Amino acid sequence: MFYSVFKQLAFKVDPEVAHNLIINSSSYLTNLTGLFSPLKSASHYQLKQGELTWNFPVGLAAGFDKNAKAIGFFKSLGFGSVEVGTVTKKPQAGNPTPRIWRHTAEDSLQNAMGFPNSGYQEMTQNLHKSDLNNFCLGINIGKNKDTSEEKTAEEYAFLYEKMAPFANYLVVNVSSPNTPGLRQFQDKSKLLPILEAINIQRKEFSKPCFIKISPDMDPADIRLVCELSKELKYSGIVATNTTIQHNYGKGGLSGKFIKPMASQTRSLVCECLREDPTQHIIGVGGIDSYAEIKDFWKQGGGFVQVYTAFIYQGPQLLKNIAKEMDRDLKENGMQNLQELVTYYQKK
Ligand SMILES: Cc1cc2nc3c(=O)[nH]c(=O)nc-3n(C[C@H](O)[C@H](O)[C@H](O)COP(=O)(O)O)c2cc1C
Repeated sequence: MFYSVFKQLAFKVDPEVAHNLIINSSSYLTNLTGLFSPLKSASHYQLKQGELTWNFPVGLAAGFDKNAKAIGFFKSLGFGSVEVGTVTKKPQAGNPTPRIWRHTAEDSLQNAMGFPNSGYQEMTQNLHKSDLNNFCLGINIGKNKDTSEEKTAEEYAFLYEKMAPFANYLVVNVSSPNTPGLRQFQDKSKLLPILEAINIQRKEFSKPCFIKISPDMDPADIRLVCELSKELKYSGIVATNTTIQHNYGKGGLSGKFIKPMASQTRSLVCECLREDPTQHIIGVGGIDSYAEIKDFWKQGGGFVQVYTAFIYQGPQLLKNIAKEMDRDLKENGMQNLQELVTYYQKK
């Protein structure tokens, strides 16, 4: 109820202005979380995949809390995890505004942000002040726009070293369409030096580390990235980022529009990683209901993230998913989510 009133007002202003309002007032909003009817935490919602445990299987995707300023708020709403960032080494302004557009007829968003963020040092300070207790924090790292190809691997390794002490998991973002040339690092020959450079740091300080891919990759390239994840002992893949296959102009599209292509990408990733128990897939892209999540579990996936559906549905999205999940648990005579997900993964 509160969110639908809030949404009516928020959708009248520029999407980035509305977004910044939420982030900048998050410390006040955390005290008023009751207004947003948050999801109550319950132990049966816990899901463990590899080394990670989420208190709820749905997390907030990267790009929402770019500077790690609102983790407490999202935690209080019931998210099982927040992936902060994308954070870069130096602060950067990103692309000129406006750079987010709503496509309400298809529950989608278009963004051409270009990693505006305050840099890793400010994120570190914000993380020191955050309540990370009993919560799974992901940190998504990316290169600065003006970093040359030669310096890119070094920069990712630098960010891994600085941010790993705070994170439960890290994500190597090479799939955002708004940093010129970034997606070329999804090619095996260009991704390999980045992953190897990070692995030198991982020997010192080991944390689960994922690679985030776009839904626009061709199947052969997806297979190669999956092979690299296995060979170099990464934790798996986050699939997917936004698509550039649209007719709206610049930037990437997210939400309902990308559902089919994101799901197809995830299906292939699941197929490639299925035989290796060290590999996991975080599903993101067009996920807006429990039905989507169940489909992903049947493909072999586990944790999911949302961004666009959260904008359109608000905190009720988490409550609706929990309600459907509870019904499903009951119908299958199961006590907890771990059991349910394992059941679907084997189906
Ligand atoms: C406004 C906006 C900003 C985003 N910024 C980032 C980002 O900084 N890093 C990143 O890895 N993904 C970013 N994303 C992509 C999301 O994390 C997610 O992968 C994508 O939106 C698909 O999920 P969805 O359909 O649930 O929105 C952004 C998405 C949006 C809409």
